[in-house]
Amino acid sequence: MPNLNTALGALAVAGFAAVASAECTREALFAAAETYIEAQIAGSVDGLTLAADFSYVENNKDADVATGLLGKALALDYNRTTVDTTQCASFTHLISTAGPYVIATQIWHADGDDAGTISKIDTIAATTGDLFFNAATTLGFVETHDWSELAEEDRVGREELKAFGDLYLDMWTDADAADKIKWGAECERVEGSMHENGMRRYVIDEVLGSVDVLCQFDSLGPWPDSHEIRVKGGAVRYVYTVTVM
Ligand SMILES: *[C@@H]1O[C@H](CO)[C@@H](O)[C@H](O)[C@H]1NC(C)=O
Repeated sequence: MPNLNTALGALAVAGFAAVASAECTREALFAAAETYIEAQIAGSVDGLTLAADFSYVENNKDADVATGLLGKALALDYNRTTVDTTQCASFTHLISTAGPYVIATQIWHADGDDAGTISKIDTIAATTGDLFFNAATTLGFVETHDWSELAEEDRVGREELKAFGDLYLDMWTDADAADKIKWGAECERVEGSMHENGMRRYVIDEVLGSVDVLCQFDSLGPWPDSHEIRVKGGAVRYVYTVTVM
């Protein structure tokens, strides 16, 4: 349900006049992500509301949505989405043991009144042969994880979440970065990867305490990568990576 007051409040606070919109609510973003998940299951984008200038990026390269992974029907074992109402974007994690694929996708919506349309789907998809890839093992980990909404006192702001994402990525090239991260006592890292990074794109959800960064690990090779970090009570709780070699 569009919530004008919330959207206008976010607009006033964040100053994202060009991006925030009455239609860019958590509910709308979750609903749009659900249409993307259905599209991946069907292998067809027919059910998606796409902008005229829609673009599809797969593993950091412009791709054709019909011949890319999204054009391939895929049975899914797992889906989970976080949403970013400030940027009008979302992040979805998918696992298909049949594929097999582990997929990390950012969905970006059009500006203003067109927030209901998807302007870009930016996906990183790892499969057999990619770094530490095992879809069934990843599924076994993530299925036990708690992704319920955080209590107010366990939330941190956008900038802090973004900083967690950056520090984590910088760890691979900056020896001091790891010491700056507050690791939770129960932190679990589901590491499909390791290393360095450019081209960072962030989706941040304060309510679920997550930051997803799609990037490229430049130090070891131009590897498309997703790092998603859940922060609870100011400390890292989960880290999920998807890395394509
Ligand atoms: C995504 O997962 C939920 C369970 O977490 C499920 O109820 C829903 O049907 C899934 N979405 C799709 C499109 O399969």
